[in-house]
Amino acid sequence: MRIAIARETEAGEPRVAGTPETVKKMIALGAQVAVEKGAGIASGIPDAEFTTAGATVTTDATKDADVVLKVRRPSADDLKGYKKGALVAAIMDPYGNDAALKMLADAGVVAFAMELMPRITRAQSMDVLSSQANLAGYRAVIDAAEQYGRALPMMMTAAGTVPAAKIFVMGVGVAGLQAIATARRLGGIVTATDVRPAVKEQVQSLGAKFIAVEDDEFRQAETAGGYAKEMSKDYQAKQAALVAEHIKKQDIVITTALIPGRPAPKLVSAEMVKSMRPGSVLVDLAVERGGNVDGAKLGQVAEVNDVKIVGYANVPGRLAASASALYSKNLLTFLETMIDKKEKQLAINWDDELIKGTALTRDGAVIHPNFKPKTAA
Ligand code: NAI
Repeated sequence: MRIAIARETEAGEPRVAGTPETVKKMIALGAQVAVEKGAGIASGIPDAEFTTAGATVTTDATKDADVVLKVRRPSADDLKGYKKGALVAAIMDPYGNDAALKMLADAGVVAFAMELMPRITRAQSMDVLSSQANLAGYRAVIDAAEQYGRALPMMMTAAGTVPAAKIFVMGVGVAGLQAIATARRLGGIVTATDVRPAVKEQVQSLGAKFIAVEDDEFRQAETAGGYAKEMSKDYQAKQAALVAEHIKKQDIVITTALIPGRPAPKLVSAEMVKSMRPGSVLVDLAVERGGNVDGAKLGQVAEVNDVKIVGYANVPGRLAASASALYSKNLLTFLETMIDKKEKQLAINWDDELIKGTALTRDGAVIHPNFKPKTAA
């Protein structure tokens, strides 16, 4: 069983899919591990640390690998170096990327999309959306603090009082919860909103105030999977009016709202941005999925009427060492479910819901029910 940890080839991706810790564990499971030269550098892991952990460091680590671990979906060029039938686990970004999925199928690899991991108790330690979103939520507050020209906590000094920053978190999933906790730790006065009613208590338990239109639609606005639904136009209008009043008084707004498989909901209009006082900061964590904030620009800090809109790409990558450590652990625990520990061999149970939920391609075809080409469905 040969496992490769690939070097990321996409620009702006500093994370890596393995650490010395996970390498040691994979070797203990009976694997030979090869790491592509320089794979860990941007995450603060020099090649020598992988070697010490027992891996071979080479330029063609993926060549004979039975399993390739990656952060991002492999490119056409990457795939040329993988053997047919290899298992490839990565954050595959499958929605709306049919051509890329076909490419994976054509390459003959078994591709697993880590972000499709079912959110069940058994798979919590494999949940990359959570491990990465948690860090992104934390980092969003740090990035906001950096752009904000004032202190966040209230300070009473001999020279006068600095008021606490008012921080509003929109979308209280994993990222939003960590943003609330971080903003509270830094001394902000925190409010938060979401369309899922279950969130209210969580917000309050973190010491923040919950802001939302709590009508009948709101009370039913959660799918069985625990995700947000797209809300009716009428609800969106009511919520927008409430938010508009609230945002005027905020110093920092952090948006994290997503709906799986759909563009991010637009929550902050240009009008709302304009209503904020100069020096205020918005951080849009949904910018890669179309953005929650009007005027957010991917990879940039945009300025509109002296209000800054932070739209950094790959926010977990801004904490590459932490993000890589958690992501690598997610991959390792997933991989463990595919290994026969006695035989020290790969043994995939194709009926396992974790496999069924994440496997995109197999034997030259796209097999995931959500992404199968229409004609074959
Ligand atoms: P997400 O990243 O898909 O969305 C972020 C947040 O945006 C969600 O809370 C969503 O309700 C909210 N949102 C969507 N549209 C909105 C709108 N128009 N206005 C305001 N907010 C809006 O969600 P994430 O972080 O992946 O978590 C979703 C749920 O899954 C949460 O309940 C979380 O606790 C749960 N979860 C369960 C796990 C498990 O059981 N293993 C693991 C991780 C999360």
